[in-house]
Amino acid sequence: MLLSEVRVPALDRGYLFGEGIYEVIRVYGGKVWRGGDHLRRLASSLKELDIQFDSECVPKRVEQTLLRSQLKEALVYVQITRQDRDRHHYYPSSPEFNCLIYLQPFDDPYEKERQTGVHTVTYPDIRWSRNDIKATSLVANCMAAQAARSKDCFESILVRDGLITEGSHSSVFAVIDGQLVVPPSSSAVLPGITKSQVLELCKARSINILERQLLVSDLPSADELFLTATPEEIIGIIKVDEQTVGNGTPGPITQQLHEAFQQNVAQIVGSRV
Ligand code: PDD
Repeated sequence: MLLSEVRVPALDRGYLFGEGIYEVIRVYGGKVWRGGDHLRRLASSLKELDIQFDSECVPKRVEQTLLRSQLKEALVYVQITRQDRDRHHYYPSSPEFNCLIYLQPFDDPYEKERQTGVHTVTYPDIRWSRNDIKATSLVANCMAAQAARSKDCFESILVRDGLITEGSHSSVFAVIDGQLVVPPSSSAVLPGITKSQVLELCKARSINILERQLLVSDLPSADELFLTATPEEIIGIIKVDEQTVGNGTPGPITQQLHEAFQQNVAQIVGSRV
């Protein structure tokens, strides 16, 4: 079915309440990247919202969609919601499930940003308190993303009580005194799949990791700052509001980690033709 032919029922609870869960997955060289990790996070989000959809069918459906599309470089979007015969806030006892899986070709648009680094703005983290759930209710993230865009910036860095939590659609890391500082995943911070990949790469390269709260007041002492997300991979942040990070170019650890990331992709998926 074409995406333009998909119809959402009016009583879908994703449509009514923004109640639903989703994943964005990268396909490299025709292979699903870290599919097991995405499936585990999907299952965990479903469990948290008591959506009793059996996610075990998702990998097969993704593979089928991928085969039909014949795409080699792509993003997969998976969204699961439920619907009932009536609108009420409490969960339906015997819901129907709507599972949307679609693929879009991905001709990596971020190569330039990885080389030059990106500008960001700080923005108040006005999201709810369960950001560990990858929920479709993203209006606060959209407001933050738009605040960055309206200032010609790539991303908003979300701040709550002086703490940097993450970006509007990315995880945020700093390098301070040669150590990688990263806010631990919690109910305030999504456990990013790219983030866990970066942590693995650091361990393999003996880069010290300090999982601790990242403060806005840490920014002046940060030699490097970068963001990670499935589509973006790893991108250096060279400016936060009016403040330049390090020497204003993506730092050596950011670059080293992105090279390692690409090597890892190449090893796992082989040739990307
Ligand atoms: N977003 N934090 C937030 C708030 C995010 O929305 C995302 C990803 C990440 C990075 O997670 P991962 O490394 O697993 O992609 C962190 C996706 C890509 C999106 O909403 O489109």
